[in-house]
Amino acid sequence: MMDAVIPPVINDPVALARSLFPKRPQTFTDNRVPVMACADNMEFLRGIPDDHFKLVVTSPPYNLGKDYESRTPLDDYLAQQAAVIAECVRTLHPQGSICWQVGNYVSNGEIMPLDTLTYPIFRRLGLKLRNRIIWHFGHGLHCKRRLSGRYETINWWTASDDYTWHLDPIRVPSKYPGKRHFKGPNLGKLSGNPKGKNPTDVWEFPNVKSNHPEKTGHPCQFPVELVERLVLSMTDEGDAVLDPYMGVGSAVIAALMHNRDAYGCDTVQEYVTIAERRVEAWRNGELKTRPMGKPIYNPDLPKGGH
Ligand SMILES: C[S@@+](CC[C@H](N)C(=O)[O-])C[C@H]1O[C@@H](n2cnc3c(N)ncnc32)[C@H](O)[C@@H]1O
Repeated sequence: MMDAVIPPVINDPVALARSLFPKRPQTFTDNRVPVMACADNMEFLRGIPDDHFKLVVTSPPYNLGKDYESRTPLDDYLAQQAAVIAECVRTLHPQGSICWQVGNYVSNGEIMPLDTLTYPIFRRLGLKLRNRIIWHFGHGLHCKRRLSGRYETINWWTASDDYTWHLDPIRVPSKYPGKRHFKGPNLGKLSGNPKGKNPTDVWEFPNVKSNHPEKTGHPCQFPVELVERLVLSMTDEGDAVLDPYMGVGSAVIAALMHNRDAYGCDTVQEYVTIAERRVEAWRNGELKTRPMGKPIYNPDLPKGGH
């Protein structure tokens, strides 16, 4: 006999997406206070005990000469990165993860992918690469002598084989949620997981450009929803999360939203002040963030599919 359980027909992928994602608390349910400082990350990390962070998630400068960095020879840049990464590893919990989000270093039109250049640093420190996540986004510079770049990578490293990992909170809607096996011992049963599918290692989130609700004066912010996916899958409530290149605190906010302890530092006071204001706005329920699970704007659909 066939299993008679019929799942609801899902006509509304947006509603399904919303139902899949954990609701963010609208106000702080406890008194978690983030530790944020205007400081060089090597100094900041010196004050942190070993084995502390369950997740280090960050996007370092790419040595491109942006407002917040001065361009240095590539070898010097990589040596600085190695020192910071070693401190992150020292402070990483044995079941912890490091997510290092980078793009390309560019010199005279030649690109050098920073994830491949930093790969040996992490390997030498004994970490294991679990995924090289491609973050695809829609907006950026239009190149004339090569293809315009529309992705960056997040290398997900773990301290050991015994790492914290939860797939269910980050599942996304299945393409065919009601699809059933049409033969074999599972005939008639749902072929996919009713909780949604694995989001895979290719992620699409809008990057934070001028019309993004999270845009501040910082030139390269993380979308909060991107960090939320990492926080929810790689940590438990109460765990500690660090961004050693915090910028305007997007990772801090994502951690606080899900009741994790948040730590971050940045050398630019203006960014730290914005981060503090954003945390305050979040506390007051006034911070605008793009919700997890919101579909990408599609000009072919009514209201862009939103
Ligand atoms: C790519 S941005 C990170 C932005 C961040 N993900 C956000 O959402 O706002 C890199 C940041 O690293 C900061 N930075 C550069 N060198 C640093 C250092 N030695 N210690 C701490 N922060 C540093 C810069 O000021 C800049 O804000």
